[in-house]
Amino acid sequence: TRVALAFSGGLDTTVCVPLLEEEYDYDEVIGVTVDVGQPAAEFEEAAETAAALDVEHTVVDAREEFAELCLQSVQANATYQGYPLGTALARPIIAEAILGVALEEECAAVAHGCTGKGNDQLRFEAVWRDSELDVIAPVRELGLTREWENEYAAERGLPVEGGSEGKYSVDTNLWSRSVEGSELEDPSTIPDDDIYEWTDNPDGSDPAYVTIEFEDGTPVALDNEVTDPVALIEALNEQAGAYGVGRTDMMEDRMLGLKVRENYEHPAATVLLTAHEALEGLVLTTEQRQFKNHVDQQWAEKAYEGLVDAPLVDALEGFIDETQKRVTGTVTVKLEGGHCRAVARESPHSVYSERAASFNESDVGGGIEQADATGVAKYHGFQSRLADDDPTA
Ligand code: ARG
Ligand code: SIN
Repeated sequence: TRVALAFSGGLDTTVCVPLLEEEYDYDEVIGVTVDVGQPAAEFEEAAETAAALDVEHTVVDAREEFAELCLQSVQANATYQGYPLGTALARPIIAEAILGVALEEECAAVAHGCTGKGNDQLRFEAVWRDSELDVIAPVRELGLTREWENEYAAERGLPVEGGSEGKYSVDTNLWSRSVEGSELEDPSTIPDDDIYEWTDNPDGSDPAYVTIEFEDGTPVALDNEVTDPVALIEALNEQAGAYGVGRTDMMEDRMLGLKVRENYEHPAATVLLTAHEALEGLVLTTEQRQFKNHVDQQWAEKAYEGLVDAPLVDALEGFIDETQKRVTGTVTVKLEGGHCRAVARESPHSVYSERAASFNESDVGGGIEQADATGVAKYHGFQSRLADDDPTA
């Protein structure tokens, strides 16, 4: 019988191969690596490791589908506890792709190398448990630690050397790069600069400007050049990463309730989210913005859980799509010294009247005079004035 394993060539998934054969009695392991925009070196590493382990290895290209989901997350201004969702967005797509291979190859089971303490196990299995296949999680089921894995790999002569991730657990995709483990597990340690690969140390860099054009809430052009989603995200990662934009160092609350110290890099995500919110600020009404905050939060919550296909998400997207019809226009973002901010925005669907807001015009327009606000000003704070200062006196 065969098992399809989510395979990155990293430590966890490498030790899973002999374990699936020996502890779980599968005759054949098929390693599946899904391309969601990891660096090319990771595929070479995965292929080499698979060859050394003597297992079949397949790569499924899901970059376009993933890039589209990333841009959909921009429409929902999707962040979790302040950082742009990345790993969470990729997992359901990876899980679907692996399930597809497993079914095609007539596997009896699907397996992942996620820890029983994390989120990723939940995101993978939410997809896989919708199939008839057995779900195997060796790291969780056998209670493995990375220390045990390293020893086991050394004993067995497993090919885990030369891994680009070294002592850390790293997860990279088009949208973000996550680094955890080792000395980073102590929240009081300041990370070494070498944990960062996408973002330069921003000190002393001159500012740069990038303009992003949106059509119905989707970024379609960078500095007037129309690009497809994958290329647009890659270009922005490079451009904004050079200015140190998009680093996060935080305590994250996982679904199981555990806190974990996380470090992320996400230059393109930070720029696109900043630009998109700035454009919404110009084109959405007050009450649309207020309500959309709640909708966005719910979208991000479900996406964090790996449940972007939940019926609730479809319903939320109905609202989001309706609002995005106005989100067409151009935003200029300034990149400088490790951060970015929107510095100009324009749209044919603006809900802004320069005349109305201007200090240089006496009236508001549309027949409304400044003096018309007098009545409103008289009422403002009325209940506060009536209320006792100290109700216990
Ligand atoms: N904690 C983050 C999340 O749940 C990222 C986990 C990434 N995994 C890793 N092995 N670094 O989305
Ligand atoms: C893992 O890679 O299994 C740890 C990260 C997580 O699942 O949250």
